[in-house]
Amino acid sequence: MRATIIERQLSFQALTNMSIRILGIESSCDETAAAVVADGREILSSVVASQIDIHRKYGGVVPELASREHLRQIVPVVREALAQAGLSFNDLDAIGVTEGPGLVGSLLVGIAYGKTLASALSKPLVPVNHLEGHVHAVFLEAHKSGKAPELPAICLIVSGGHTIIYEVKARDASAGNCAALFAYRKLGQTRDDAAGEAYDKVAKLLGLGYPGGPILDRLAAAAGNAPSPMQFGHIKIRGNPHDFSFSGIKTAVLYHSREHPEYAPEIRAREEAIERGERKLEQLLPLCSPATLGLVRDFQNAVVRDLVERTMSAADELSAASVIVSGGVAANSQLRATFVQRAAEEGLTAYFPSRPLSTDNAAMIAAAAYPRFRAGLLADHSLNASGSLPLA
Ligand code: KG4
Ligand code: ZN
Repeated sequence: MRATIIERQLSFQALTNMSIRILGIESSCDETAAAVVADGREILSSVVASQIDIHRKYGGVVPELASREHLRQIVPVVREALAQAGLSFNDLDAIGVTEGPGLVGSLLVGIAYGKTLASALSKPLVPVNHLEGHVHAVFLEAHKSGKAPELPAICLIVSGGHTIIYEVKARDASAGNCAALFAYRKLGQTRDDAAGEAYDKVAKLLGLGYPGGPILDRLAAAAGNAPSPMQFGHIKIRGNPHDFSFSGIKTAVLYHSREHPEYAPEIRAREEAIERGERKLEQLLPLCSPATLGLVRDFQNAVVRDLVERTMSAADELSAASVIVSGGVAANSQLRATFVQRAAEEGLTAYFPSRPLSTDNAAMIAAAAYPRFRAGLLADHSLNASGSLPLA
């Protein structure tokens, strides 16, 4: 019944040349986000309210504080997204909301709000897997360049909460198109820390604040030929070669810094600088010894090498047509450059979202909702948060 109504609506909109406008809502972790996307590919607005300042002093996301902040932000963020798009609630065709995975308390805020809005407006509600959102972040932008990733693709989703390799295939004829439904097969994942989590923990123990990825990225680029204070070997994995493990590398940095008390004064100096709000590269770089810079550079080399090699070996094994890299860590400059080079060596193209769409946002949720809306894959009032929702 619902599917028939959507079919009628779609043919009406096709006849009148009107686009399908979906409001996306994202609240799975520490970003409250809302966006309006037309036809799964044109971003009319995208608003992200980051909670980083709230969680910074704890060195990571505090779930209870995150849900409270989502509650405070959700209404103004959605209103702002509509205002920026120049639309009213009635102009929307559907509401897409992140169902999971993520922090349950945080997800529930977006879901409760999305359900209420859908019910009050009598609009369809589309449940979206956050990880599928990260995949669609790439397809969403592809229409601008006119070049979408070819399928089957190997997709690495690498963020503060996830490090997973998927095989992505087309489920219907519109393959590679932003209206396509994809099928996913998980090939491997981290057995302990996600790569972004390792960045955040190493940054914390070096007194570099939270989140750690962006500053470690910049310091590694500035390290030049600084001496290597410790050796990072290849990360060994028994069993599935497409799995990851980053806790050993983080612990190695921890032991190294404990065994060398000479790091303590500079760590304290950086912590004090961060507390004063001095988080820029030019403020922190003078507080880093050559040993710290060498350590950061070698840590990043080890993480990037591992992410790239395991992903490329999966691409090779499955004869993938392209490589997709998404999630917060996909913003890393060295990771991008290394993927571009390694993929080219294999005759493949590596695709990333632009940096604003690499980290959590709602445009990717609205984009992922579009093919689901077209296929009539809707939710009703029983929709609930699913903290560990698999991508299938
Ligand atoms: O996707 P995201 O915004 O949220 C999660 O779903 O986790 O990713 C946030 C993660 C953090 O761990 C952050 O340190 C990392 O992405 N990150 C980076 C960079 N920018 C963000 N890691 C390495 N290099 C970066 N440039
Ligand atoms: Zn994410």
